[in-house]
Amino acid sequence: MGFGRRKSVLGLDIGSHAIKLVEIKHTNKGPVITHVQSRSIPQVEDDEQDPAGATRETLHTLVDEAKLRGKRVVTAVSSALDEQVTMRSIFIPDLPLDAPEEVLQMSVRAEFEAQDYITYNDEAEIDCHIEREITLNGVRGLEVFVVAVHRDLIEGHVQLLRDCGLIPIAIDIDFLALARLLVVTQQLSPTGDTAVLDIGANQTAIGFYQPRQLYLYPHIPIAGNQLTSQLVQRLNVEWEEAEASKHAQVEEPEVWEALEDCLDQELYQQIYVHLDAYEREFPESRPAKMIVSGGTAQLPNLDQFFDSRFSIPIQIIHYLDQIAVDPKGDTAALRGNEPLFATAVGLALKQV
Ligand SMILES: Nc1ncnc2c1ncn2[C@@H]1O[C@H](COP(=O)(O)OP(=O)(O)OP(=O)(O)O)[C@@H](O)[C@H]1O
Ligand SMILES: [Mg+2]
Repeated sequence: MGFGRRKSVLGLDIGSHAIKLVEIKHTNKGPVITHVQSRSIPQVEDDEQDPAGATRETLHTLVDEAKLRGKRVVTAVSSALDEQVTMRSIFIPDLPLDAPEEVLQMSVRAEFEAQDYITYNDEAEIDCHIEREITLNGVRGLEVFVVAVHRDLIEGHVQLLRDCGLIPIAIDIDFLALARLLVVTQQLSPTGDTAVLDIGANQTAIGFYQPRQLYLYPHIPIAGNQLTSQLVQRLNVEWEEAEASKHAQVEEPEVWEALEDCLDQELYQQIYVHLDAYEREFPESRPAKMIVSGGTAQLPNLDQFFDSRFSIPIQIIHYLDQIAVDPKGDTAALRGNEPLFATAVGLALKQV
């Protein structure tokens, strides 16, 4: 990048509950957050209505309101769509570190077909990143991290963005965007493993970073909506009121009691199952810490709750101590909401 040249990238995180938008200006002094905005997606209750339509309309409104000058955007496909999104490290024998990109691509495709990793080989967009050269069973070759996404999913996202007047420059994977943020802000454990949770509205993503590898476990279908729905039942109130009591500092003991029961019986149990599976898969590598992201990471008391249940140190994701914010920008929405915007920040950190 030339001296003084600046580039803005929009990170757009389209969740099931809300769309989060962050603009980052990449300056020669590092990234600066210049705009932050979110908008809830009206929930579709009627089966006849199309949830994709609600997302599209919300995105149009958000982009119109934002009045952004930069149009270059990075968005993500959800790693929860595991029938259309696959990430894995594979070994390619007899390939040198300086193999041309086309040869690498062809070898990866051939390996994917041979191993039947995915059912959509002919429609897969494949992106690969060489991790290192290794010897496996006496054979020299490359360890390659591969992301395969069904073309229809990518094309759907590209079309959605173009319809809003945006210019897609990359389609990322949500969990990899979070990883980018954690790497840039040096939050991953340098020696041990780091467990990462993204607790949204409908689901919780859980993955583990080893210094050179990422292991994503199946998503947990429990997150903020289950907490709200527990409050609706226990307090006998409407959804909006339950949401408001969930967000507020919990002074009423009955609110926290209801939330704690739900956390204990549902979310904690399932996280525990995954942690246990991970520790059995890698007996010698215990996570050194657990980083929690996503809107539900902002639940007051969640960190104390996890602290009291898990023996691993808990850290709610943060980055404002490391990434600058433009004082003239429209960034007020970020205050108190770092976990909510973490994936969008990670997306906007991508430089293409
Ligand atoms: N301060 C807060 N306290 C408690 N819950 C909060 C707070 N802020 C946001 N949430 C919850 O976070 C959830 C939304 O988080 P997020 O935007 O990360 O989800 P999403 O990405 O839209 O959903 P998903 O990833 O499940 O598709 C909602 O359930 C909301 O109630
Ligand atoms: Mg999300």
